[in-house]
Amino acid sequence: MIDEKNRKVALVTGASGGIGREIAEILLVKGYDLLLVARSLDKLEAIQAEFKTIASARDVAVLQADLSQSGAPKMIFDFTNENNISVDILVNNAGVGMSGAIDEYSEEVLLKMILLNTFSLTALCKYFAPQMKARRSGNILNIASLAGYQPVPYLAAYSASKSYVLNFSDAIAMELEEYGVSVSCYSPGHTDTEFWDRAEISKDNKFYGQKTRVSPKDVAQGAVIKMFKGKLSSIYGFKNNVMAFGSGISPFRKLNARIAKKLVSK
Ligand SMILES: NC(=O)c1ccc[n+]([C@@H]2O[C@H](COP(=O)([O-])OP(=O)(O)OC[C@H]3O[C@@H](n4cnc5c(N)ncnc54)[C@H](OP(=O)(O)O)[C@@H]3O)[C@@H](O)[C@H]2O)c1
Repeated sequence: MIDEKNRKVALVTGASGGIGREIAEILLVKGYDLLLVARSLDKLEAIQAEFKTIASARDVAVLQADLSQSGAPKMIFDFTNENNISVDILVNNAGVGMSGAIDEYSEEVLLKMILLNTFSLTALCKYFAPQMKARRSGNILNIASLAGYQPVPYLAAYSASKSYVLNFSDAIAMELEEYGVSVSCYSPGHTDTEFWDRAEISKDNKFYGQKTRVSPKDVAQGAVIKMFKGKLSSIYGFKNNVMAFGSGISPFRKLNARIAKKLVSK
């Protein structure tokens, strides 16, 4: 169990695959002990075993949690306290997408997505920030999305949930900066993970298709670099930055939404 002094611990949510797994490996190699959180215990245990072969001196703990349940953040926080795990880096990466027109949404799936993408991320910050403030050190890395920079028809609730992550992260970064705690928000563009299958978006879609997707390793690398630099909000990739900049300067919200609709309906 992770309890020795002078060890640095990173808690990574959504660490059972995709970008979260890659972020966890980068932090492992940088010398962090890990607490890996997701629902799939079998995948977490396989990664735990693999990470032991990469860095045998590091402690890698796993915790099964469903962050679409409102009690999960408190359960994770209690687990860290019961096991004397002091979290130096909190990576709020777990998230899911949901495609389709608003009238097609299932209420249950919608509620779970919003709880996962917004509430749990918020609550984990709320629980772990006080310890970081008291120690006058710590990093929080929240994973948003390029989709959070503009309204995205047919991904409306998902893109709005990521706009929440962006605004929330920048706001708490201001609250925590005088305590030596940095909050970074990193926005991937299209990345080659299970995200697309889970969101029910086809590989053949012209705008979101396979050819537009980059490696989760590269995205994770970018996120960790920005986090250690203490950058507030940043976006992976030049093209994505141009797109976000373009939608940011337009004073015409309707025009923005129309352009997005045209692009995603191709
Ligand atoms: N891929 C992209 O193109 C893209 C673009 C922009 C932003 N993002 C964001 O990047 C983050 C990581 O996504 P990814 O692309 O790596 O997708 P992914 O491969 O589907 O990974 C998602 C991770 O979140 C975990 N997760 C999902 N639901 C959960 C729940 N209810 N409770 C706890 N953990 C849960 C999954 O593990 P379990 O299923 O085992 O729980 C998995 O470890 C997300 O926040 C996503 O919105 C992705």
